[in-house]
Amino acid sequence: MTTRIAVVTGGIGGLGSEICRYLARAGRRVIAADLGARAERIDAFRAEMADIDGRVAFEPVDVSDFDSCADLIRRVEAKHGAVDILVNAAGITRDTSLRKMTPEQWRTLMQVNLDGVFNMCRQVVDGMSARGFGRIVNISSVNGQTGQFGQTNYAAAKAGMHGFSMALAREVAKKGVTVNSVSPGYCRTAMVMAVPEEIRNQIVAQIPVGRLGEPADIARTVEFLTADDAGFITGANIPVNGGYFMSF
Ligand code: CAA
Repeated sequence: MTTRIAVVTGGIGGLGSEICRYLARAGRRVIAADLGARAERIDAFRAEMADIDGRVAFEPVDVSDFDSCADLIRRVEAKHGAVDILVNAAGITRDTSLRKMTPEQWRTLMQVNLDGVFNMCRQVVDGMSARGFGRIVNISSVNGQTGQFGQTNYAAAKAGMHGFSMALAREVAKKGVTVNSVSPGYCRTAMVMAVPEEIRNQIVAQIPVGRLGEPADIARTVEFLTADDAGFITGANIPVNGGYFMSF
């Protein structure tokens, strides 16, 4: 079987690191791409990945910078080979009500969460199309579907990822490349644990399953969508939210 090369942005983050682990265990060669400045986190990540050593490499990238993304893909291709799987899991929050939101809080979030998806997909889509195989998964959020108090910026970016994914899915469908989004609900990550406890408890009380999601709940969905035999699922959004938001 061909060893597929997977790049995961936000690869040392709360969801990203678990996605790396799942893809590596599924036999992929994984490149965790994340901000190089998070040095202490990189060491911890290497220790966490020790059990699957050799399958997961780290490469620095700033997804908000187009040239940095281009440079990342050049390095990955030179060291490991062509990219078959791209998971855009890099994301930040800048929560505050709109009446207090600064242009900087709006822009910074958009540059990472939405420009980042364009910046990365743009680097890999030609190669995937030419080789006739590709899997792109964009990690969105339930809050892109429902909105959330204090998240006009985040909800706009996450909803935007759906439109992007559907449009790109149409462009590359005939080339063996699928593009999907996954919309996690509230999961046990540092990002969610930073929500004030009282508000977080109110949210958990509204999750029918009765608990926060685990990063593994998201990672196994990404593994499923990126499988070689998942070629008929494209332009889809998979909600993984414990029933917090149900729709069809
Ligand atoms: N619902 C209803 N009312 C709220 C509220 C809420 N969630 N939060 C604040 N308010 C009220 C305040 O009590 C305040 O009332 P008064 O004016 O009567 O005092 C009023 O709304 C205005 O609040 P502020 O303008 O001061 O709001 P703020 O700028 O301080 O922001 C907030 C409040 C910290 C953003 C808070 O609303 C909050 O934490 N919201 C939840 C954010 C959240 O869930 N983020 C998810 C992060 S994790 C993630 O995003 C991962 C994922 O994909 C799921």
